Amino acid sequence: MLKQRVRLVVGNWKMHGRLAGNAALLQMTAQGAAALSGSVQVGLCVPCPYLAQAQSLLEGSRVAWGVQDISAYTTGAYTGEVAAEMALEFGASLAIVGHSERRAYHRESIELVALKTGQALAAGLTPIVCVGETLAEREAGLTQQVVGAQLGGVLDKLSVEAAARIVVAYEPVWAIGTGKSATAVEAQEVHAFLRGLLRAKDPIVARVPLLYGGSVKPENARELFLQADIDGGLIGGASLKGEEFLAICKAADRAGAEQ
Ligand code: 13P
Repeated sequence: MLKQRVRLVVGNWKMHGRLAGNAALLQMTAQGAAALSGSVQVGLCVPCPYLAQAQSLLEGSRVAWGVQDISAYTTGAYTGEVAAEMALEFGASLAIVGHSERRAYHRESIELVALKTGQALAAGLTPIVCVGETLAEREAGLTQQVVGAQLGGVLDKLSVEAAARIVVAYEPVWAIGTGKSATAVEAQEVHAFLRGLLRAKDPIVARVPLLYGGSVKPENARELFLQADIDGGLIGGASLKGEEFLAICKAADRAGAEQ
């Protein structure tokens, strides 16, 4: 659809990692990314305690880094929270917001996700806004209604200029960590719907990268990334294995070069 779409592959380590193992994984990812042709951008969202390590091992490489959540507030008495500005001090450029695990286990509302998106943008971080339906919602035919409300709740609060700076990730809850990816056709169908919502905000906003997440593996990455409205991936489990993550990045790089 869009010429020269930005390809983006971001790893979400979730609550995994230890200093010793991280070092090898970060170094391997940085070295592997250096060999890519440049049709893809690569990022890693690590647990906050490892931000300094990510900064020291990724700085100067082609891999960006960031956090998996940020506070809806700038500063203050919010025990346990991490402000966007704090992540920025460690060179972060990415912040996942509204991941389904946070919506489900921490009861994050659409309004809260919109506030977090605003905080990320205000600090100069790129928010990766996650949306996705549960299996029950899909089976009830509610997919568009659910993801539409999740994305709409964010877009409504943003100016066109701000909305053009977000990234959106479609992550069907039933495909996360289950090994059961959405098919490329199923994913594309929802991406096309999300693209329509972005376009309705403004044609400039229609250009934001739309990532797919949920059991992306080297085996299914190419087909997913060749879909008209899939601009890359948000990778959980496979981002913890350097070779698999790099193979996925390569698939996006090639898809970007082919289209
Ligand atoms: P998996 O790739 O492990 O299914 O996780 C996807 C995800 O939730 C990324 O944010």
